[in-house]
Amino acid sequence: MKRLPELLERNKQWAAKVSQENPGFFEALSHQQAPKYMWIGCADSRVPATQIVDVAPGEIFVHRNVANVVVHSDFNCLSTLQFAVEVLKVEHVIVNGHYGCGGVRAVTDNLELGLVDNWVGHVRDVQVRNKAELDAIADPEARNDRLCELNVIEQAHNVCRSTVVRAAWRNGQDLTVHGWIYSLKDGIIRDLGFCASSPADVR
Ligand code: CO
Repeated sequence: MKRLPELLERNKQWAAKVSQENPGFFEALSHQQAPKYMWIGCADSRVPATQIVDVAPGEIFVHRNVANVVVHSDFNCLSTLQFAVEVLKVEHVIVNGHYGCGGVRAVTDNLELGLVDNWVGHVRDVQVRNKAELDAIADPEARNDRLCELNVIEQAHNVCRSTVVRAAWRNGQDLTVHGWIYSLKDGIIRDLGFCASSPADVR
């Protein structure tokens, strides 16, 4: 039986290093988590939330799926959002997409991958809604990048339209929703300018 000894060994070394640099780190974190941020990102292995913004365990509450999609009937994402907002009282929800997203490419290239085609149908909806703008972009790579951006904006809107965020704002909770995009080519996150702290900011 294979038991992935290499990963378990790396874990031991990591835990020892963290404890050495910061004695009591795990003991303190074991009592409670108090993250200020929730992250909704793509499942892509190249876009690990805590690593790319260089924060320690305990600082970001994370939900990831293929193509960072926020669907009104997805109880997995909505439950995570609810727990983050209502229980942990995070102050920021970040929808973080990335250029070169395979889920987005599956839509633009009309790939047939099976079950996941239904999931990225939500990205196809974004493509359909923005057809005129996307058709006007001649370069396929640039058109793909733009759909990655538009998808982030759309999903950030969906976060704002969720019952969870609407209730939080109604109750006067300090909560801001952001739309960011990460580049695999340089490791840099760009702020797409979507920033909503109240229903009035969502247009
Ligand atoms: Co992706």
